[in-house]
Amino acid sequence: MCGIVAYLGDKEAQPVLLEGLRRLEYRGYDSSGIAVLNGKGLEVTKKVGRIQQLERVLAVRPLHGSLGISHTRWATHGKATDVNAHPHTDASGKLAIVHNGIIENYGILKKKLIDKGFQFRTETDTEVLAFLIGFHFDTLDTDTENRLEMAVMEALREVTGTYGLVAIHQDQPGLMVGARRGSPLVLGIGKHEHFLASDVSAMAAHTQTVAHLRDFDVVTIDRNGYRLKSLSQNKVGLEISKIDYQSGEAEMGDFPHFMLKEIFEQPISIQNAFRGRLNLDESTAQLGGLNLTPQDLREIDRIVITGCGTALHAGLVGEYIIESMAHVPVEIEWASEFRLRNSPMDRRTLVLAVSQSGETEDTLGALREARRKGHRVLGICNNVASTLARETDGGVYMYAGPEVSVAATKSFTSQVVIFALLALLLGRMRFLSASQGRGIIEAIEALPDQITQVLRQSAHIRKIAEKYRNANSMLFFGRQMQFGIALEGALKMKEITYIHAGGHPTAELKHGIIALVDEKTPSVFLCPKDGAYDKNINNLQQVKARKGPVIAVATEGNEEIRNHADDIIYIPDAPDFAAAILSVVPLQLFAYHMAVILGRDVDKPRNLAKSVTVP
Ligand code: F6R
Repeated sequence: MCGIVAYLGDKEAQPVLLEGLRRLEYRGYDSSGIAVLNGKGLEVTKKVGRIQQLERVLAVRPLHGSLGISHTRWATHGKATDVNAHPHTDASGKLAIVHNGIIENYGILKKKLIDKGFQFRTETDTEVLAFLIGFHFDTLDTDTENRLEMAVMEALREVTGTYGLVAIHQDQPGLMVGARRGSPLVLGIGKHEHFLASDVSAMAAHTQTVAHLRDFDVVTIDRNGYRLKSLSQNKVGLEISKIDYQSGEAEMGDFPHFMLKEIFEQPISIQNAFRGRLNLDESTAQLGGLNLTPQDLREIDRIVITGCGTALHAGLVGEYIIESMAHVPVEIEWASEFRLRNSPMDRRTLVLAVSQSGETEDTLGALREARRKGHRVLGICNNVASTLARETDGGVYMYAGPEVSVAATKSFTSQVVIFALLALLLGRMRFLSASQGRGIIEAIEALPDQITQVLRQSAHIRKIAEKYRNANSMLFFGRQMQFGIALEGALKMKEITYIHAGGHPTAELKHGIIALVDEKTPSVFLCPKDGAYDKNINNLQQVKARKGPVIAVATEGNEEIRNHADDIIYIPDAPDFAAAILSVVPLQLFAYHMAVILGRDVDKPRNLAKSVTVP
């Protein structure tokens, strides 16, 4: 979602900031802007649209100076326009801020400022915050040493809501002030230079030494270094760490889009999810990061899995896997619902929060709600430096590498593999035999090669996409573990092609969905050879009988399916949980090719953000 990059050092700020913003592009945005302090004072340029549009303006009128702030905005309060883009200035035009998060009481604050005679130019909450900080700055004595820092702190004391922000002021030209509450802000420490950014990737090309600000921290950076204060009674202190982030990993290489690159990375990302976590001697899994003793694991009698979007769909597949392998009851809860519910749980309930980014506001809200009530919360997460990673009691990292494309692909398959590992671990502590455990391990180890086989069908899947390019609507059907895959296939199709698509449990067809079937609406049937195969074929025939085109995802060697489906994509023969992982790959490719054929912006679909940091 919104991204912040700020720089103070020896270099020209503009190129450093623009490069940082490009690294944050994947988070999704609809405008961008930059402000630089120099001998002339404060200069601001902002532009709606892609960063290239901002760059075009800056190429003609560059901003010079070695202290600057910049932002990519994803509109919440106020439309995506040049004027609503960040940085926002105060009434005097001498102070500029960039801000992520939401100022909940901005309406009240705005009214107070209007009553004092201020006039606003935008409908944004951030402009109100800029005016408020500017107001406090102007009421402080001009010779106050920490004037900007004090003004920021005074203003934030009046604020309800969330923020990651950076402020600069032309009357205190050698410094910037950053603050955080609920929205990530990272300090980067380089040689004769410092950074503040919402995501380490924005500064990874310049420094690997970082510190994550905690809620209520306020950091002031000048040429001599940084100083930390807190708006709470917490003891101040920064934990400085070295990040292991290869900025090159986020390059596209020979692929035309990040999404395709990430789909093709799955044989490796899956291997990274299970490497070192399989115990062949005991036919089980080992997940040290859970921070749970064998006794704790045996005592778990219920699991609640929470997350949003693709992560929730992985959780749904995980529910079936854990229940079938470990016989532990599992419930799936949309994080946005769970955080507001009073879901009955007891101390033997384990909460699993699933998130690629580890920064999804609803998922963080759900985990905080569960922890507030005293429950143990574990995370399944890709971003090791995320808020979720810090706020959970333990968990499992995906090690999938950066996922840049807005549409999640490799993170989904890694999440499902991790659920299989967890199910194996819990199952082996309950009733699964050693030979059953070995069978699961073999199936997990076979996945990378099997996914490679599926990927070889990319050209065939593209032809299928060509055939259905005029569809306005699509249906995806699956049962049991394949139901989550149907939901995920439909989500991929919707978000990057803008074709309406629905995912359904196959048997629901006759309870209403069948009314949508006609010759122009393709149905994708997930029907590998499993216990539900015959029932699936039955439903598939009901669609064919109504002239609905059918694309089947079926098990290799199944020739009979040719009598029923118009188009077939084969996946290797595998146990149910592994077949679920294998089935999603053709659906990712189907959506990808369709989006390319339709000329969509594949990696940055309209209105979407990679990391949804607002509730
Ligand atoms: C879909 C997609 C979203 C995310 C969701 C949760 O392709 O990317 O539905 O899955 O916003 O994001 P994380 O996993 O970062 O919490």
